[in-house]
Amino acid sequence: MLDPDLLQLQAESEAAIQAADSAALENLRVRLLGKSGQITALLKALGGMEPEARKARGAAVNELKNAVSTALDARKAILDEAALTQRLQAERIDISAPPRPETFGTIHPISRTMEEIAAIFGAMGFTIKDGPDIEDDWYNFSALNIPAHHPARAMMDTFYLQGQPGQRPPVLRTHTSPVQIRTLLKEPPPIRIIVPGRTFRADHDATHSPMFHQTEGLVVGKDITLAHLKGCLIDFLRAFFDSPDLPVRFRASYFPFTEPSMEVDIGWNRKTGEIGKGSDWLEILGSGMVHPNVLANCGIDPREYQGFAFGVGIERITMLKHGIADLRLFYESDVRWLRHYGFSPLAPAMLHEGV
Ligand code: DAH
Repeated sequence: MLDPDLLQLQAESEAAIQAADSAALENLRVRLLGKSGQITALLKALGGMEPEARKARGAAVNELKNAVSTALDARKAILDEAALTQRLQAERIDISAPPRPETFGTIHPISRTMEEIAAIFGAMGFTIKDGPDIEDDWYNFSALNIPAHHPARAMMDTFYLQGQPGQRPPVLRTHTSPVQIRTLLKEPPPIRIIVPGRTFRADHDATHSPMFHQTEGLVVGKDITLAHLKGCLIDFLRAFFDSPDLPVRFRASYFPFTEPSMEVDIGWNRKTGEIGKGSDWLEILGSGMVHPNVLANCGIDPREYQGFAFGVGIERITMLKHGIADLRLFYESDVRWLRHYGFSPLAPAMLHEGV
């Protein structure tokens, strides 16, 4: 039982606490329990009392102290909660508001180039395929006639992922060529596809990014020849660079998945960067007649069917077409850059515009 003076102090304190706002509550805490607070003074006064009296009074003062301190904490919790609720309401995010002051976005130049490629090859009767970014070793290398010991694997160093025991090692695909295999396994010829998509290699500088884009092409039929390959790629390059007389050169090369293989060059002026002018050659894509082993790996008889394939780097031809010097700019998401190099979403790639 508390002494009457203590009972009164408790009642007054509790009433004041109930009515207090945050600032008043802090004042009360200091006034009651602070260094020179009322209850602190009562505790100090115990020191001058007789032991018997001190015991009873001491217990009562402590009871008061605990009751007041509990009341202070409880009130603080209520006030904090109310303040938080108020803040949450005041700071509520309007998710329907535009995230940036921009009133419109643009089509990224990489996406635009893929749309242009789709428009050009679409007009030639190609359909679009895609495949997974995470491939396995067999689709990315072995089935494409690149066995485990082959040096071409080192040239396409990639990111190897941890596989399950007994599973073929998963890799981030180094090129879009594995989609040739996926398509040949699933669909009987004739086949006429392009494959735009993301590719990955362990490379990083002004002209290489660990993630980049390619478009693969594959045509397989009973009577597809090198002449088809040449006609198709010359038409593509002239349409893409909007240059009807663009010089195009086919230069013997090597890829494990084609035989014969050819690098395709276009004429340009190395000094000015002008495409189609001058007397220099610039390598632009890889191509060739599909290797008989690749067809056989997919269960297609190479004595009955043949075809051609090609692979083109999207960043590279986009940089050339638009005079972009550093490939890393594509991925910086700088709004000023995007506004300058981006394309209107309302003006899709159209063949009659020279694309
Ligand atoms: N896959 C090759 C690369 O990434 C590019 C390529 C070359 C693709 C020749 C082809 C081809 O289909 O026939 O370097």
